[in-house]
Amino acid sequence: MSATGGALAPDIAAAVAALRAGDLVAFPTETVYGLGADARNPAALQRVYALKGRPANHPLILHLASIKELPRWVANVPDVAYRLAEIYWPGPLTLVLPRAADVSDVLTGGQTTLAVRVPAHPVAQALLRAFGGGIAAPSANRYGHVSPTAAAHVREEFPHGVAVVLEGGDCQVGLESTIVALDRTPPRLLRPGAVGRAALEAVLGPIAIGADAGSPRVPGSTPQHYAPLTPVVLASGVDIAAACVAARNSSARVAVLARSAAPPECTALESQGLWLRAPTDAVGYSRLLYAALRMLDKLEAERILVERAPEDPAWDAVRDRLERAAAAG
Ligand code: TXA
Ligand code: MG
Repeated sequence: MSATGGALAPDIAAAVAALRAGDLVAFPTETVYGLGADARNPAALQRVYALKGRPANHPLILHLASIKELPRWVANVPDVAYRLAEIYWPGPLTLVLPRAADVSDVLTGGQTTLAVRVPAHPVAQALLRAFGGGIAAPSANRYGHVSPTAAAHVREEFPHGVAVVLEGGDCQVGLESTIVALDRTPPRLLRPGAVGRAALEAVLGPIAIGADAGSPRVPGSTPQHYAPLTPVVLASGVDIAAACVAARNSSARVAVLARSAAPPECTALESQGLWLRAPTDAVGYSRLLYAALRMLDKLEAERILVERAPEDPAWDAVRDRLERAAAAG
């Protein structure tokens, strides 16, 4: 049901029709925009991999309207999954669980597990409810690029190939969901996100961190993921000031993303619009990071210097994405 009551909003109806026809739709979630396909339609799922340029063995995340649908997709939902879901669904948490027998190999990349989440964004919820089934959706960006946090980013990534792009404003979280694998003991945090390690451990007890040899392939966990085209270099405030001095004495054009105002060495950069100031809190920084990287990527700089994030656990997801962005350079 739409906010107007009764009839569906026209854009939701068009997106549902496209999904039923096996076409792709982009939709907002609270984390990033997703590139969605009918999770029960292998040909539509193939189209997602093809459009993204993503290898077929890198699985997609299944999006459901509610936890009630989980048993249709997952074999033996463990109690801990329900306990986490009760607290964090709908929300920015993805659970990796043993898949049900009839789940498409195309969705899971041939693995025996399935990654699943219930997104909170009202447009995602409206779409999932109107569609009445599962929607498989990776982030709506080409393979290895920065994830989109606004509908305009999706159109930039995919000028063609997406039947409907649903508008949902800027994503409130701004970084991809936390992924935790519950198919093994101890559970393992595969991708840090807004639901932090401490919050997970409060429910699960001690968990393992990062991909291990037994982990399925996670493209978000390959180092070069989440990268702009301009090389990203992580730097301290002192390094950045030194780079500004060096840039002043050469023709090098560098752009900076920092959490503070430009020091005197960097005012020239600032006046050229090459100094972007980011929020000083992790939540605000997460929300703006990908849009900032996209913006900085367009400045034709030879490098983007990004001030290192604090070591505090609140910044775990930001540090993870920044390290990956920097690994590409
Ligand atoms: O916030 C998000 O999670 C966004 C929105 C659209 O929901 N989606 C997203 O999807 O980030 P994607 O495909 O860009 O990242 C999904 C990650 C990939 O790293 C993938 O390998 C991992 O989830 N994944 C999927 N199935 C998995 C599985 N069975 N085991 C381990 N990791 C899995
Ligand atoms: Mg992605």
